[in-house]
Amino acid sequence: MSSRPTPSPEVSFPSTPAAGTAGVVIVAAGSGQRLGHGIPKARVLCGGLTLLERSLRAVLDSGVAAEIAVVIPAGDDVLRSVAEGLSGTVPVRVVAGGASRAGSVRAGIAALSTDAPVILVHDAARALTPPEVFRRVVSRLAAGADAVIPVVPVADTVKTVRGGEVEGTPDRNGLRAVQTPQGFTARLLREAHAGARAEDPLITDDAMLIETTGTPVVTVEGDPSAFKVTTPLDLMLAETLVQGAGTPSAATTAPEEAPMTESALPPAAPLPRTGIGTDIHAYSPEDAPAPLWLAGLFWEGERGLAGHSDGDVVAHAAADALFSAAGLGDLGTHFGTDRPELAGASGVTILQEAAAIVRGAGFRIGNIAVQLIGNRPRFAARRSEAEAVLSEAAGAPVSVSATTTDGLGLTGRGEGIAALATAVVISAA
Ligand code: CTP
Ligand code: MG
Repeated sequence: MSSRPTPSPEVSFPSTPAAGTAGVVIVAAGSGQRLGHGIPKARVLCGGLTLLERSLRAVLDSGVAAEIAVVIPAGDDVLRSVAEGLSGTVPVRVVAGGASRAGSVRAGIAALSTDAPVILVHDAARALTPPEVFRRVVSRLAAGADAVIPVVPVADTVKTVRGGEVEGTPDRNGLRAVQTPQGFTARLLREAHAGARAEDPLITDDAMLIETTGTPVVTVEGDPSAFKVTTPLDLMLAETLVQGAGTPSAATTAPEEAPMTESALPPAAPLPRTGIGTDIHAYSPEDAPAPLWLAGLFWEGERGLAGHSDGDVVAHAAADALFSAAGLGDLGTHFGTDRPELAGASGVTILQEAAAIVRGAGFRIGNIAVQLIGNRPRFAARRSEAEAVLSEAAGAPVSVSATTTDGLGLTGRGEGIAALATAVVISAA
């Protein structure tokens, strides 16, 4: 977790925006390993909006951008449409990122025109950065700085450690935690990223490339809300902040307040809706064996399920739960005889289509949870693979658990496989 200190004593520069002068690179191509949602982090929802959408809106709201390059994982159509959907008065270009953050920054810089005199580089993961911070950075550049970074004081005592032993304790008063957006004169940043050190894994932010060149890197005041969503705890904090519950300390120090009733909720917060879905398929008969497709994966050597589709009960239950949550009927309502092109479609395609229909009806998808019930296949070893495929299809986190029924019932007798799913959606209106 990033440090989240009290307001910073850094010198504040005037925050009059030099509107619309900067090229802005938003790097959103990371995989979000530490968050662990099984989908690219920028696609994770926070208060019903993806982290990328929140970051991009903050950039647009700040008024500093002349153009924006959004760097996303190659082939990520969900993030592409999020970014393109917000392209309006400010042109937004979408490009594929690299294997490292530095590679993604370079791809973003290359996608900007050479017109903008200054470039800001911003982490999509700092989704709650107030627009004011962008203006502060640009104002300082306009006032003559070549490299500007937002910083906040460090709350913890920091030690240098080697081989499990403390080497020393730097004076905390001289330490700052560094945030983004980091701003640079365009030429300086382009040259720095063209240099040999740009891919050094020890270089963890763009300012480090400048620090050794003799050009001063100037600090401005960052903001506690600009913390980087890195771990599940960070996401919980971000959710709390956007739900209008104020700061976490405010949320935990109001014991005498009346319990929150529906009418006490902020009027702008639509309530989430839950849904339920079920699907069951029998195993294919011995004399007509079929391959097994389950949870979006092919299961080599396992007995398949009967039915004219691939019989993927996990994907079907997930899709059903989505329709149920949105109040849009069920699988039969949407994929009945009037959609002949979907006859025999894979479970993944069905789930993708269902998610598109639900979004098209004005809902955002919170998550889907599926429980697989059956004796075979042994699921646990491929859980994360399945969750990644299904999350990709739904454009939202899909978790899958599995259980047996102690030999009871049709699944216990090995006659087939069942799946139950729940989903949460929220009206985007
Ligand atoms: N980033 C990127 N391209 C990469 C790696 C990171 O564009 N190859 C972006 C991330 O999308 C994020 C920012 O750089 O907005 C900061 O990186 P980090 O917080 O480390 O995000 P991830 O790399 O996605 O997370 P993790 O390290 O936990 O996998
Ligand atoms: Mg990373």
